Amino acid sequence: MDKKATLTLADGKSLDFPVLTGTIGPEVIDIRTLYGKSGMFTYDPGFLSTASCNSSITYIDGDAGVLLYRGYPIEQLAKHCDFLETCYLLLNGELPNASQKGEFVSTVTRHTMVHDQLTRFFTGFRRDAHPMAVLVGVVGALSAFYHDSLDINNPEHRKISAFRLIAKLPTIVAMAYKYNTGQPFVYPRNDLSYSANFMRMMFAVPAEEYKVNDVLVRALDRILILHADHEQNASTSTVRLSGSSGANPFACIAAGIACLWGPAHGGANEAALNMLEEIGDASKIPEFIKQVKDKNSGAKLMGFGHRVYKNYDPRAKLMRETCYEVLNELGLENDRLFKLAMALEKVALEDDYFVSRKLYPNVDFYSGIVQRALGIPVSMFTCIFSLARTVGWIAQWNEMISDPEQKIGRPRQLYKGAARREVQPIDKR
Ligand code: CMC
Repeated sequence: MDKKATLTLADGKSLDFPVLTGTIGPEVIDIRTLYGKSGMFTYDPGFLSTASCNSSITYIDGDAGVLLYRGYPIEQLAKHCDFLETCYLLLNGELPNASQKGEFVSTVTRHTMVHDQLTRFFTGFRRDAHPMAVLVGVVGALSAFYHDSLDINNPEHRKISAFRLIAKLPTIVAMAYKYNTGQPFVYPRNDLSYSANFMRMMFAVPAEEYKVNDVLVRALDRILILHADHEQNASTSTVRLSGSSGANPFACIAAGIACLWGPAHGGANEAALNMLEEIGDASKIPEFIKQVKDKNSGAKLMGFGHRVYKNYDPRAKLMRETCYEVLNELGLENDRLFKLAMALEKVALEDDYFVSRKLYPNVDFYSGIVQRALGIPVSMFTCIFSLARTVGWIAQWNEMISDPEQKIGRPRQLYKGAARREVQPIDKR
């Protein structure tokens, strides 16, 4: 054992555990043998101190505000790459050269249509169903349509499923939106880029030609890049845990989407925008901040704070930049909510409550404003996040399946319920 950590138990017995070193980041104490040696578990609700797996995909330094995909800083990827190059990187570990990119784009493009019978799933939902409810259902249903790529132990099947998910998610998300608004579905157009095609499927109507706006398409592409992966967050851990039982990739991604829906995770941009609408005016900021600081109010400054980032989320900086670009393009430089968001951010960053707790804006603080400006309704925000994160989930799922150390996920517990007791007949209870 090179480096070790020693645990001394109450009875004076000492146990040694190996200390594992990653490429960067904190060292990790390997406690896999703890239970066998001591009969004890560790207690770590929310995994605050637990690394659940090995991974080579994404690295976050929360104190420094750094995010790397396969070693590349998110700022450089957002500037020099498009979303499909980022997908290639996350899935394969390296950025593609021109011919690899061409082949990858062409394969994704060939999978953009969905089985026509899948359209009937949509009509089974109420028109006013939340699009995330529709997305969870329809993505889960993909496993009933694509039986030919469900063998998780076959790398070729896993590859085909990955292409199908990345290619079909935009189509399904746009269909969920169209169904919600009562407009006809718009089929994919394979001569357009990934993001341009998605915007067309969202906003085109048969009555008129849809004009692609390159600035807006680039903004959407950037949103997708920034949300593509984020290490072992709640939804990614959900995908890994679901996949650890051998469940098929479509079911696992549906589980990830369900987890992402929560307001503390992917639902935060929707919640942040609703919060700005509720505050309404900069004069109400002090009152709102007072409420957030009162623990009994239950209110939170949505789009602020992060489990890992204890500094400015690097994605939030890029998203604020994108916000400027989009609002300028649309002649909305004086957008009410953007101005309000910047004023709120300034107040919070100068307030001791937020400073002392290291609460900074996260990606969701500004992404809602950008999406709203693109014409995406609030209820669709988490669907867009799901679309972007699908590649990260697949990359992580694939990494897990290929890992020889992979085991079914099975956390233990500290039991605090009743000790053994006898069932009494009903007249004696
Ligand atoms: N507003 C007010 N107080 C907050 C906030 C906030 N947004 N976030 C954390 N705090 C307080 C919290 O009450 C606690 O205070 P105290 O120490 O006095 O009890 C302290 O800061 C530490 O917070 P925590 O809840 O222990 O932190 P956590 O790591 O468990 O939670 C979080 C992280 C993201 C769930 C939380 O910050 C939050 O709910 N933020 C708002 C929702 C949000 O924006 N979520 C999006 C996350 S980024 C998108 C993604 O990557 O998925």
